[in-house]
Amino acid sequence: MNGSDDGAIMARRDAGRLNGIGFGTWAWGNQLVWGYQPERDDPVLEETFLEAVRSGLRLVDTADSYGTGRLNGRSEALLGRFVQALPASLQRELLVATKLAPFPWRIGRRGLDRAFAASRDRLQGHLERVQLHWSTARYAPWQEVSLLDGLADLVLNGAVRELGVSNMGPRRLEWMQDRLEQRGVRLSSVQVQFSLMAPGDHRLQDLLAICRKRSIEVLAYSPLAFGVLGQPPDAQPRPGTLLRRRLFNRLLPASLPLRQELKGMADRRGVSMVQVALNWCRAHGATPIPGLRSPAQAREAAAALSWELTPEEQDRLDTLRSRCPVRMPANPFESA
Ligand SMILES: NC(=O)c1ccc[n+]([C@@H]2O[C@H](COP(=O)([O-])OP(=O)(O)OC[C@H]3O[C@@H](n4cnc5c(N)ncnc54)[C@H](OP(=O)(O)O)[C@@H]3O)[C@@H](O)[C@H]2O)c1
Repeated sequence: MNGSDDGAIMARRDAGRLNGIGFGTWAWGNQLVWGYQPERDDPVLEETFLEAVRSGLRLVDTADSYGTGRLNGRSEALLGRFVQALPASLQRELLVATKLAPFPWRIGRRGLDRAFAASRDRLQGHLERVQLHWSTARYAPWQEVSLLDGLADLVLNGAVRELGVSNMGPRRLEWMQDRLEQRGVRLSSVQVQFSLMAPGDHRLQDLLAICRKRSIEVLAYSPLAFGVLGQPPDAQPRPGTLLRRRLFNRLLPASLPLRQELKGMADRRGVSMVQVALNWCRAHGATPIPGLRSPAQAREAAAALSWELTPEEQDRLDTLRSRCPVRMPANPFESA
């Protein structure tokens, strides 16, 4: 491939992927929260992936920790298989982003190098962005610089195109971006829990402001509060894993006024509550990456791209969010 072909592909990819909604694949291999069963779920997940791509979604998020034990790396392996089966022209339009977990036993940059190689193999080489899943500031602060330097080297030596981080607060994010810039590497994105029911108002506002100023894309994870925000006001707690049932039991009553408003807005526009919840993230400048488990969910997510909230709708939802007495639990891996 010559340089001009390369440039044309990049331009097409950028036009295709920066469309403001991606999707996540945590459930593709996770049993504890999502009750994944390979034989039952894999064919549906393949259809889900294809439908997401057909509908125009171009950014896919996964992680090397999605799938543990005998299902180790399952989400990446499924995604690698699904991407590999696409025509080459579509493969080039996708941006696959994985997250590497800095587990305490992955000592130093060599540990992450090995993890990167394993992820790239599972993804059959379809890997454009590597993200540090969380900061080690709380349990191994001394190794954070060498981890970051190792990730920077992956970009500098051409092993991967882009870098991102995840679960960072404003202070850690700025520190990390400064460190990467010293190495001449750009930080493309930060991924944080962001939804109408996410915790941490001031922290999120500070983070969004920093990202605007420093041109870092914010990827909003769990944008549907594990699915709570798609539940109509009269929804009853649904069956599912114990963890998710407990969460729904707590969050459904607490979010009733918010979900009533979501339903009202959705009905007036002739769209779904999920679309409204995703567009609330976009209105705040974040790119939501909803977890998808069916082709219908993929179509719904993509449909939100065709319209935007008005400032009045956004204000109304902001107010109801601020009054919501119970929020999603904070991710224990978040740093300040
Ligand atoms: N960086 C991190 O630490 C971190 C942490 C969490 C998640 N993430 C990423 O963010 C992604 C999304 O977050 P998440 O999976 O935690 O939660 P989420 O996106 O808030 O919720 C996903 C669930 O919402 C429901 N849903 C999706 N589309 C729907 C629709 N159109 N109508 C009704 N319900 C719908 C589905 O539940 P049902 O299928 O049961 O209906 C789906 O499994 C993950 O897959 C992962 O890639 C990252």
